[in-house]
Amino acid sequence: MLQMVDLKTQYSRIKSEIDREMQEVFDSCIFIGGPKVNAFRESLEQYLGVKHVIPCANGTDALQIAMMALGLKAGDEVIVPAFTYVATAEVIALLGLTPVMTDVDPGTMNITAAHIESAITPRTKAIVPVHLFGQSADMEPIMALAEKHNLFVIEDNAQAIGADYQALEGLQAPPTLKNQVRSAISVAPRSSLPKTSVATATAAP
Ligand SMILES: Cc1ncc(COP(=O)(O)O)c(C=O)c1O
Repeated sequence: MLQMVDLKTQYSRIKSEIDREMQEVFDSCIFIGGPKVNAFRESLEQYLGVKHVIPCANGTDALQIAMMALGLKAGDEVIVPAFTYVATAEVIALLGLTPVMTDVDPGTMNITAAHIESAITPRTKAIVPVHLFGQSADMEPIMALAEKHNLFVIEDNAQAIGADYQALEGLQAPPTLKNQVRSAISVAPRSSLPKTSVATATAAP
């Protein structure tokens, strides 16, 4: 059988490394925060080139924390791709917000600005682009749309840590994308777009 995710093989490739690190955590009996989590935070900040990584238990918590930080109210609409892992929409519903599903690009299975635009209503407050299968969604037009409609952008990057995104104008983001977009980035891709507020990390030590 072809498995969607083969965790056993992934684990077997780096088993000795994982086992050693886990044993050190058990030996220290420091299960919340502590030196291992700090080292993880620092190395991910460096890897992603962001100022702040906030380590948390998993990707679902990362999305929920980012969304709670935005102060949205019950009934506010949040646009998500219809094709994603359940957690993306689940946390929106859990917080009493309304997930609004859009179609995705058949080539990449990622959300696009055109799909998002057709789903925007006066109640829309945020967009959650999901970067699937290691590929960044086309963020430049999505950020421009967010700026135009004053929307938050929370990137679900559970599947694409380390993916690069090249903005049309090169490594410098065009001026219209700077400052005005209020973004919370859940494990940002190393994109050339501005990395404004929150970066939350999904992995445990
Ligand atoms: C796109 C996407 N978002 C969120 C999550 C949730 O992450 P976690 O299982 O660590 O809670 C996953 C997990 O596979 C995912 O694939």
